[in-house]
Amino acid sequence: MEKLIFEKSVSGRKGYTLPRLDVEKKELSELIPENFLRKTSLDLPEVSEIDVARHFLKLSHLNYNIEIGLYPLGSCTMKYNPKINEKTAFLPGFTELHPCSDENFAQGALALIYEIEEYLKEITGFQGVTLQPAAGSQGELTGIMLFKAYHKDKGDTKRKVILIPDSAHGTNPASASIAGYQVVSIKSNTRGRIDLDDLAQKADETVAGLMLTNPNTLGLFESDIIKISEIIHNCGGLMYMDGANLNALLGIARPSDMNFDCVHINLHKTFSTPHGGGGPGAGPICVNEKLIPYLPVPIVVKDGDKYRIVMDTPKTIGKVHSFFGNFGVFIRALTYMKMLGPDGMREVAENAIINANYLFSRLKSKYYAPYDEYCMHEFIISGDNQKKLGVTTKDIAKRLLDYGFHAPTIYFPLIVHEAMLVEPTETESLENLDAFADAMLAIAAEVENNPEIVLSAPHNTPVKRVDDALAVRKLNVSWFQKF
Ligand SMILES: Cc1ncc(COP(=O)(O)O)c(C=O)c1O
Repeated sequence: MEKLIFEKSVSGRKGYTLPRLDVEKKELSELIPENFLRKTSLDLPEVSEIDVARHFLKLSHLNYNIEIGLYPLGSCTMKYNPKINEKTAFLPGFTELHPCSDENFAQGALALIYEIEEYLKEITGFQGVTLQPAAGSQGELTGIMLFKAYHKDKGDTKRKVILIPDSAHGTNPASASIAGYQVVSIKSNTRGRIDLDDLAQKADETVAGLMLTNPNTLGLFESDIIKISEIIHNCGGLMYMDGANLNALLGIARPSDMNFDCVHINLHKTFSTPHGGGGPGAGPICVNEKLIPYLPVPIVVKDGDKYRIVMDTPKTIGKVHSFFGNFGVFIRALTYMKMLGPDGMREVAENAIINANYLFSRLKSKYYAPYDEYCMHEFIISGDNQKKLGVTTKDIAKRLLDYGFHAPTIYFPLIVHEAMLVEPTETESLENLDAFADAMLAIAAEVENNPEIVLSAPHNTPVKRVDDALAVRKLNVSWFQKF
């Protein structure tokens, strides 16, 4: 086993050169109060620059990522992020701008914020936007806080409930609960859509709103969306759209035309900015006139040729992020939008849908398709056929790693037995889709002819099958834990 970086440490070896000191030298005790000073030295590895470079490169090789291969993680839109996004995000005019700069010195940055907001209004059909939320889930929370502010402002205090379909992403009920609402679940029907009878029964004067993902997390368009919004609006509630799946609608359909009042967008999914690992993302929300007064501040407005920052909107819910949100993400998303233009964005959605349908049509020859109809940008298959032969969806997911692919989302949505939610995205070519389909079909054949090889997978990854339960109960990520 090769030594880890801490074990390579040799006293006195170093991998850095500090710039020449250009201020008066002082003792540490003059700068930091005695009680805050460390009493013992930090036990950091003393290694050369090349040791550090090799360490991090080797670690990165242990990870799967979109630049290694297809990443079919349903409900997550793990598409390729074009490199030009990075180029613009690193322009010194942006990176060297202090967020506290006076608005006169930040006109370019404010123009960028204004422009991306205008694009998002055009794409969604709404009139108001905030870019502040740092993730889709924070967008959800912000949107539901706007619903609360709206009802309170109207003196309507009896609304305690948010309705959410049973196919929803887990962040939806979490956001509604954090905002102080009681969550009531709505059943899906056999077509994978909201059961209208169940909805009508539960829609009453206690309902503050409905949270709905469209296309939903089964990859299906909610074809009764106008009826659904009528039911909710007629009982005085508001319509929230989880727009994490906007990749399927770009340039084709707008949430405002489906009578939603608010939508969140995952810039880090639909608009090709980095995400994962809890890093900075952006989950802007777009709203109609009803909710504009409550949007977070600051707001950027255009005054003639100048951009101004507005802080004093009397009914605002306040800030949900420091400054304007994750500005670097906005630069990347705007670059992506400008590179594509309106026609290119529509092509994104069309290709995402075509790719998903192609893959679905190949896979359903061996995997059970509980909703066997045209899908949007993602689709559901189930490992039920394979389960009858003693192999689970989890085994199939592990075996895919041996074939060099990331696994799809598994066991979600919860309403599908042995679920696999697959989203190939528009950035994959026909050859890549075929390679993935071939791997999935080869695994299905293995399940029939040599199940042991699937049950004991993965065979060629750096980490073999871990004990999930133990990993959760006794998580140990410290450096001395050898695999
Ligand atoms: C349908 C849906 N809603 C909400 C979210 C939450 O978005 P985020 O991961 O940016 O918080 C996701 C992301 O996985 C999603 O797929």
